[in-house]
Amino acid sequence: MTTLSDDAKRQGERVGLNVDTITIHGGKPLIGRVDVRGAKNLVTKAMVAALLGDGPSVLRGVPAISDVAIVRGLLEAHGVRITDTGDGELTMDPSNVRSAHFAEIDAHAGSSRIPILFCGPLLHQLGEAFIPDLGGCRIGDRPINFHLDALRAFGAKVTKLPQGIHLTAPERLRGAEIDLPFPSVGATEQVLLSAVRAEGVTELKNAAIEPEIMDLISILQKMGAVIWVEPNRTIFIEGVDRLGGYEHRALFDRNEAASWAAAALATKGDIFVAGAKQPELLTFLNVFRKVGGEFTVMEDGIRFWHPGGPLKPVIVETDVHPGFMTDWQQPLVVAMSQAEGQSIVHETVYENRFGFTDSLNAMGANIVVHQDGIASITRRVPRRALEQAAVITGPTPLHGADIRVPDLRGGFSHLIAALAADGTSTISNVGIIARGYEHFIDKLRDLGADFETAD
Ligand code: EPZ
Repeated sequence: MTTLSDDAKRQGERVGLNVDTITIHGGKPLIGRVDVRGAKNLVTKAMVAALLGDGPSVLRGVPAISDVAIVRGLLEAHGVRITDTGDGELTMDPSNVRSAHFAEIDAHAGSSRIPILFCGPLLHQLGEAFIPDLGGCRIGDRPINFHLDALRAFGAKVTKLPQGIHLTAPERLRGAEIDLPFPSVGATEQVLLSAVRAEGVTELKNAAIEPEIMDLISILQKMGAVIWVEPNRTIFIEGVDRLGGYEHRALFDRNEAASWAAAALATKGDIFVAGAKQPELLTFLNVFRKVGGEFTVMEDGIRFWHPGGPLKPVIVETDVHPGFMTDWQQPLVVAMSQAEGQSIVHETVYENRFGFTDSLNAMGANIVVHQDGIASITRRVPRRALEQAAVITGPTPLHGADIRVPDLRGGFSHLIAALAADGTSTISNVGIIARGYEHFIDKLRDLGADFETAD
């Protein structure tokens, strides 16, 4: 059985990071500049989209993170020729796409959730697809029922096997009417990647409209797709017979940008996040300001800093776009633990995304998690049984502790807490952070953090 620490090691190794543990001497503000490149949650999908073309695609701004390495391995296993200029430009040539063996796919898939998005493109190219058991961060059940229901609606035959799922398309996929029970990011991408080359028109209701999805739609349009984004979360896709390659610079990673902003605030620091843009961060910036952080939007990035004085408590509810992203809450909770009063974070997207707060409490924070969430009348999405709410009472001084990283965003929040705390913390399993944060150890060093690493 693969343990979390085996997984962490593998994630790190995929990007040449042979570090398991960081020992951080906290209490120093992070000051300086970090560069943020393409979004993990767009780049990996854009790479899958390259499979749909009949010519090479060029993607720029690709970060060196392990989720990208996983998708690259999967594409190569399916015969896609990939060349890498070494500075974030990938050329992907799908002219010789072929089926891959179960074992080969399984070996490359690692703990990522991206393999599920290979279904539509592979069904179009080869008439079949195999998807191994999916991983991803352990932040809830993360089922794939919306994906499989959509694929069946397009005409795919789905067979569950002990090793994973086998899909076949005896005929060309055909357009479908799909109404998602929740505006799922992954299921919306599944529908887009399947519908663009299906026969006829697809109508997708209750679609996710995150900026990464809009960027994926832009890429598909460059390839020759016809996609109409209507008001009220409805997307119409007119299927076409063939698609070409694309050239595209990936949207910046707004989750990484928000994480460094949160690190600046919690450590009383000052960080210029080069590459960050305002429109995709509007909601985050509002909350950042309400907690007491300052920022200045510049042409080539955003500067985030702690202006001195006390931080203020806030109440936020995670939501689908344009709401406050679930991925932003973990890094920001550390700053909330330093605010004067009670903050509340109501998590409405995942059912188990507060596991990281146990370690923050061990470091001195006062965070109580309520399993049944909070009733609120102003929800954009229907209330679901899986909601949780965390009540964070501050300010509480943080002190060093020994921590194991549980998942990507939770892990980054542990790094922030250790950097903000008095004393020394030892954080293990840091390879998991390489899934979504490029060169994070070098960036911490450049920002003046005081730490040592061990294998
Ligand atoms: C994407 O996950 C991101 N991952 C997540 O980022 C992000 O938190 C999430 O979208 C929400 O923005 C990638 O893009 C690789 P969903 P995804 O489908 O697509 C339920 C990070 O840290 N659901 O929108 O898997 C699901 O359980 C990661 O960067 C079903 O019930 O998210 C969840 O409660 C973590 N059935 C909700 O919908 C399904 O078939 C939203 O999930 C699919 C989803």
